[in-house]
Amino acid sequence: MLDIVNITKTFGQTKALADINLQVGRGEMVALIGASGSGKSTLIQHVSGLMAADRGSGHVAVGGRSVQSGGAISRDIRRTRTGIGVVFQQFNLVSRLSVMTNVLLGALGRTPLWRSLALAFGDGDRELAMEALEKVGIAEKAAQRASTLSGGQQQRAAIARALVQKASVILADEPIASLDPESSIMVMELLRRLNQEEKITVMVSLHQVDYALKYCRRAVALCCGRILYDGPCENLTAEKMKDIYGLGAAGMFESAKAGARARASGPGAGIPVGGAAVGLGESQMGA
Ligand SMILES: Nc1ncnc2c1ncn2[C@@H]1O[C@H](COP(=O)(O)OP(=O)(O)O)[C@@H](O)[C@H]1O
Ligand SMILES: [Mg+2]
Repeated sequence: MLDIVNITKTFGQTKALADINLQVGRGEMVALIGASGSGKSTLIQHVSGLMAADRGSGHVAVGGRSVQSGGAISRDIRRTRTGIGVVFQQFNLVSRLSVMTNVLLGALGRTPLWRSLALAFGDGDRELAMEALEKVGIAEKAAQRASTLSGGQQQRAAIARALVQKASVILADEPIASLDPESSIMVMELLRRLNQEEKITVMVSLHQVDYALKYCRRAVALCCGRILYDGPCENLTAEKMKDIYGLGAAGMFESAKAGARARASGPGAGIPVGGAAVGLGESQMGA
């Protein structure tokens, strides 16, 4: 479903991505982990076609359609992008528009230009949007301005927008980084449900390892633009985490793993999710 071949991206002296090769199958839910600055956002932007790789570098295809090749974004990217829902840490809703209109913006890719300029959506799209809002559990907020929603609700609206888009892939870049633990769980559970029930392929970058362990079977760990680990989450060892996040991370990881195990065996069990203890950041990089 996601085909990333020999992608390199250089910013000045920094190699944000160094010859990345990664394949994700249809229906997978993959966690992209790594310290701050490891290249997670850059990779997601390359897959969604928001950023072109270095000239002459590799190619990216999503669902068999080319996103970019040799450092040039594909010409029919607009059509390809309708199949790719992107969810950001900062929700990216238009705050003065209603939740409903924000969700309808997902239909823009298949709306004729004159209608999209007037934000004149058809009844079919409105129905679809209402259905999507129900799926994410905020149907009663449809008429409210987006700015009046809590962070968790805004993120769920952003996911509803991807559903209206009829995306077969959701790329979520740290979707829970700005949320409290309760909303984080809700958003991660929503992504998992869409993955399992709607067969949407999900790649989600996560700063906090415990969420990756709990919600994803496969983890891809980036470190300085390289893939340092790609495999089952359960095979991530403390030793590997030390390589990924630097010294000091291993102990935190053990407690995260224990927490994920405990939580899996009952609601409310285990360590508090999303605590500072397992937020791994810049300070650990290269420590
Ligand atoms: N637009 C940019 N200009 C210059 N450097 C950038 C830009 N975007 C990212 N970088 C650099 O590329 C590296 C990877 O960044 P990023 O993908 O944002 O990491 P992450 O999302 O894992 O925190 C970092 O060293 C960052 O400073
Ligand atoms: Mg990032």
